[in-house]
Amino acid sequence: MSLDFLVHRIPLLLTMDPSRDGLGDMHDVSVGFTDGEISYLGPSLQAPKAKQVIDGRGTIGLPGLVDPHTHSVWAGSRANEFRRRLAGESYTRILEGGGGILSTVAATRAATKQALDTRLRGRLARMCARGVTTVEVKSGYGLNPETEARMLGVAREAGAASGPRVTTTFLGAHTLPAEFRNNRDAYVRQIIDVQLPMCAPLADSIDVYCDRGAFSLDESKAILAAGQAHKLKVRAHAEQVEHTGIAATAAQMGATCVDHLERLDDAGVAALAQYGTTAVLLPGAQLYLRDTPPPVAKLREAGVPMAVGSDLNPGSSPVHDLWACATLAAVLQGLTVEEALMGITRNAGRALGMDDVGWLGSGSVADLVLMRVPPGEPLEPASLIQHLGLPDAAWVFRDGVPVCSPAEKAR
Ligand code: NIG
Ligand code: FE
Repeated sequence: MSLDFLVHRIPLLLTMDPSRDGLGDMHDVSVGFTDGEISYLGPSLQAPKAKQVIDGRGTIGLPGLVDPHTHSVWAGSRANEFRRRLAGESYTRILEGGGGILSTVAATRAATKQALDTRLRGRLARMCARGVTTVEVKSGYGLNPETEARMLGVAREAGAASGPRVTTTFLGAHTLPAEFRNNRDAYVRQIIDVQLPMCAPLADSIDVYCDRGAFSLDESKAILAAGQAHKLKVRAHAEQVEHTGIAATAAQMGATCVDHLERLDDAGVAALAQYGTTAVLLPGAQLYLRDTPPPVAKLREAGVPMAVGSDLNPGSSPVHDLWACATLAAVLQGLTVEEALMGITRNAGRALGMDDVGWLGSGSVADLVLMRVPPGEPLEPASLIQHLGLPDAAWVFRDGVPVCSPAEKAR
């Protein structure tokens, strides 16, 4: 029997397989795909015949990358806010003044489904060209039942098409919409009683932004618990601007991950370790908000798994490139090369509660990316993240088929 595809003679494959040591390195291997599944993973010399053979020489192979945190459905522009922040205004002040997230909410509510779809698919195609095959996409720029559901619907449909698979997160609790400014309780009730029943069937997880300018710890707990009752996985934007205690609370509730964590305290670190919650680092937001890093050394010491996301959004992290985030997580936050690579693969899958993405082996999805290291650099893991803006993807497979041909790569 011949395979559908054989990716032949990959000099270094970082499988990220949890049953192997380190990054699961394998040398001079071939990977075969048949009917959307991995049908061979082993020495090149013993590889079976295939209908189509792809030359893997000169590349490093990895599982398809996983971006565990994006807000990639939005309309409008925040260029003006970017200027204001460069001139010294703070992110929270702009939000509290009715701008920031709220300005994107106004533009997203006004956009047609078609317009949201076109923008999202363009963003996903660019991620795919960089080797990302699984992307988490949140709602949260609707803040009313119709627009929240429209965002999730668009994301679900895009994930079913060619390009990265999409896992969706309901974030009706991103901030308080202007029309509820004087009636917080009524908005929390609307999330729980109206938005959730409409959005839960379109979502895999529920998220809250628990912070100054957004939701309190008690409000966040109630919203997450309601999501859990709808069988959604729990996660939270946690300890970003102010310490609230949400990281420990969400961990205790069984959150798959908590994200940001610039103000995480020792009790929070201990809770993540105790409950096996993944810490998602978002160095793009740290960079653009000129913030300080999360306590990475303490997370490492406590054995908390660390993932790295882009937090792609038009305000705090207009960062589209997950490879750049791996570099920034190393340079700005202190991750090792190996931690950064694990952060955009296996630990990112773990953050999403998806145990078959972010690694390659028996039981994983058939997602493989072949990366070309910068000219003159050795075929070793550090070459993948040393140069900001590189490496280039030569081939990207999702579910055993190429999802963006080399000609489509927009770089
Ligand atoms: O993850 N912190 C809250 N939410 C987003 C920002 C969204 C926005 O600014 O539009 C974040 O950084
Ligand atoms: Fe975010």
